[in-house]
Amino acid sequence: MTNVSRRQFLATSAAVPLLNSVSYAGQSDEAGGLIVHTTAPMNAEPQLANLVKQYVTPTNQFYIRSHAPNPKIDPASFRLKVEGLVERELSISLSELANDYSNVSTLATLTCAGNRRYEHSKVSPVKGVPWREGAIGNAEWTGVPLAAILKKAGVKQEAKHVWFEGLDEIEKGGGIIPFGASIPIVKAMDVSERVPGAMVVTGMNKQPLTPDHGFPVRTVVPGYIGARSVKWLGKIVVSDRPSPNHYLATAYKVVERADAIEWAEKAPIYRYVVNSVICTPAIGGNVKPGSLTVRGYALPFGDAGRSVKKVEVSANGGQTWVQAKLSQTGDYCWRLWEASVSVEAATKGLVVRATDSAGKMQPQRVDWNKKGYLFNAWHKVPVRIDG
Ligand code: MTE
Repeated sequence: MTNVSRRQFLATSAAVPLLNSVSYAGQSDEAGGLIVHTTAPMNAEPQLANLVKQYVTPTNQFYIRSHAPNPKIDPASFRLKVEGLVERELSISLSELANDYSNVSTLATLTCAGNRRYEHSKVSPVKGVPWREGAIGNAEWTGVPLAAILKKAGVKQEAKHVWFEGLDEIEKGGGIIPFGASIPIVKAMDVSERVPGAMVVTGMNKQPLTPDHGFPVRTVVPGYIGARSVKWLGKIVVSDRPSPNHYLATAYKVVERADAIEWAEKAPIYRYVVNSVICTPAIGGNVKPGSLTVRGYALPFGDAGRSVKKVEVSANGGQTWVQAKLSQTGDYCWRLWEASVSVEAATKGLVVRATDSAGKMQPQRVDWNKKGYLFNAWHKVPVRIDG
């Protein structure tokens, strides 16, 4: 976590004109060459070969997951509300966020719980955006630790959860609801020296947030699935219970039958799971016999202090494994990796598996679940051998 010159950074942020999603969407298309699943709302992911090129994912290569079109927010009149079990309610403008609080920057990987849903669907159909393996990215986030804002508001003793509410308008069950989430108070108040438990973010990769990524303000909750990092954040509510918002209370749970009893019984997903993916060569790609360089990303379980410790690649269906070289990492960050494997005429495909610093290895198989969440089975890439 580094301190930024907040006047320099956020003075620009508060002054950014109201960007519109159409121009940004066009830009991301041209500059990023994203695979676009839907345009309104925007749901898009990068090509894996582009994703794995750099440790910090450029904004135009960062997946976008939205449930409704981007809300139009006027930065001049915008106020972030803080209410609920607090001593003092707050209504914070963008310039107050920039000047009255200490702003910090930290790297953290964000991933959608539905990443790799497309593979999951092959077991049995699953509804939802058919994400390949690109609903993940590692960015530098700039903003205020949530704990600092809560401290200013004064959290009451009964507080157990902190709710986040977006300013988007999602059509659901015949009505309109905002996207929402909540996180336990312990995570919200965590001010570990290295990475805050949660951040109220205004900047991504040294620029103000783009409309697709939540301009002007979003939360980023390191270690938690992307659904807990609420974009276009309008309200923070401190409560003695988890948020009743659909996206915390019902969606984003691992269910199989998906009946009323199971929805009610299952806990919301918070942390992401250990995972790894082969990014190059591509699925079904042509490769030459001999030595082949394989590249990809790997993610540890989303708990404090975890990191990816080992990534193994096999070119013979798991009979033998080659250990990959690992890139740098940091708390709540992925690792890129590279391995050299030997390919023969009989090679059918490649497999990868990762293990994190707590010894947690990606499972060979995972049970199917109705929403296609947290798919983290060993990643398999069939290849065609040239000649
Ligand atoms: N916040 C709002 N307000 N509306 C949304 O639809 N989608 C969530 C989360 N925050 C969402 C949201 C989901 S499911 C994910 S995975 C992340 O945003 C994606 O963030 P990104 O689009 O910046 O990658």
